[in-house]
Amino acid sequence: MRKLAAGNWKMNGTRASLSEVKAINAELDDTDPAVVICPPVSLLIPACDIGGKIGIGAQDCHMASSGAHTGDISANQIADTGATYVIIGHSERRTDHGETSDMIKAKAQAAHKAGLIAIVCIGETLAEREAGETLNVLGQQMSGSIPDVATSQNTVIAYEPIWAIGTGLVPTLDQIDEAHRFMRAELLTTLGADAQNISLLYGGSVKGSNADDIFSVADVDGALVGGASLSAHDFVPIIKALSRA
Ligand code: PGA
Repeated sequence: MRKLAAGNWKMNGTRASLSEVKAINAELDDTDPAVVICPPVSLLIPACDIGGKIGIGAQDCHMASSGAHTGDISANQIADTGATYVIIGHSERRTDHGETSDMIKAKAQAAHKAGLIAIVCIGETLAEREAGETLNVLGQQMSGSIPDVATSQNTVIAYEPIWAIGTGLVPTLDQIDEAHRFMRAELLTTLGADAQNISLLYGGSVKGSNADDIFSVADVDGALVGGASLSAHDFVPIIKALSRA
């Protein structure tokens, strides 16, 4: 199983922010887990040019490989920058752009075809959690969004409860444990033994101060981090916590 610390910069960062990628790189050594930063598309090429231990990813891709889709970027084009990952189906894409699980599956397939590792995001709303629907929602999102050909080499799954994103609210460790155990069991049923090696990330208000606790949960293999991935000061302690886990 691969440990992975992934940073999602969302719509933040300009060229000046590349100094943070360099600063994070400078703090990493061979004992650290895999690290990927997903900056805005405008920074993919210069971020890849920094090199070092950090992998670079995009935050979305189109399902088609090329064509008349103004403002979109294809998985091939992302791969052409040197990036190796792409986040697919983040709840902000599902909400802001009306992305459905069918669309997300098609995007994940496009990512795989281009040789990218897809970080597929799933997660429940607060209303769904309060209605006791969390595992049903996760199950539906998984079966709807994850391609049948997903493997531990081309797919990472991120569990991101929507109510925990950017709010400072974090589920209890028992709630994270329940969700991750469920995800692992579902993947083992649908994909077979290789699912044991698929990285399952937790995302939503991960910080240096709560990372050790979150990484102590059995089926948590890393984190997808938003706000705290924007600076070396905040992201490096999370990476080091994953190293220790
Ligand atoms: P957050 O975002 O760490 O700022 O809560 C997580 C995410 O949306 O991936």
